Amino acid sequence: MKKLTVAATVLSAGLLFSCGQPQYTNVEMSPKKIKVIKDFGEDAAQMLLQELKAELKKALKTKGPVGAIETCSKKAMEITQEVAEDFGDIEIKRTTFKYRNPKNKPDKYEAEALKFFEKTYKETGKLPPYYIQKLKGEYRYYKPLKIQGVCLTCHGDPKSMDPKVVKKLKELYPNDKATGYKLGDFRGVIRVSIPEDVIKKSCL
Ligand code: HEC
Repeated sequence: MKKLTVAATVLSAGLLFSCGQPQYTNVEMSPKKIKVIKDFGEDAAQMLLQELKAELKKALKTKGPVGAIETCSKKAMEITQEVAEDFGDIEIKRTTFKYRNPKNKPDKYEAEALKFFEKTYKETGKLPPYYIQKLKGEYRYYKPLKIQGVCLTCHGDPKSMDPKVVKKLKELYPNDKATGYKLGDFRGVIRVSIPEDVIKKSCL
């Protein structure tokens, strides 16, 4: 019963239409506000993606996949915090239902956003470009992530992965949920939380 209620909320909250433009938000918002939140959230998310990808590429090249796992495990959180600090008063988190690091486990609002992406992707074959939530005192911008070729090295089917990679992952993450993905799968989101005041000032 509980599950049903959640699904219904996601459905009704997921898609609101205004002037023919789909709005991927949990409550109705003016197009101007959506643009401000999107610009801000997308900038921060892109910056994080660039930093993480550069670090991953460098580590894979110099240390190979096993060494790169260690780099990811030591640096991913740190890089995420640094990018958030660069942007000022915001928070950034990577989250997913199938998390590797338990610190990335979704809270209930993140779970709602993840369900929205999963459901829409399954039903339409298209991943919505973003989702915005208005919560108490903050706006949350979510950017969805897809599995690309390089991700399969560490998030693919363990049977086809390098056994050394599988072993290293087991060592560092005994309860790892983040394998078994295929190319094009929805992997999770980058969540950017922006205080309401920051958005209010920018919307004046
Ligand atoms: C070299 C191995 C490696 C590769 C390649 C890799 N990842 Fe990961 N990924 C990890 C590790 C290790 C973690 C856990 C990081 C931590 O502990 O903070 C992780 C965590 C994540 C997380 C955070 C959620 C969670 O499960 O904890 C996301 C999202 C993610 N990876 C997406 C991707 C995507 C998308 C790609 C491809 C572009 C990718 N990864 C490629 C090793 C890898």
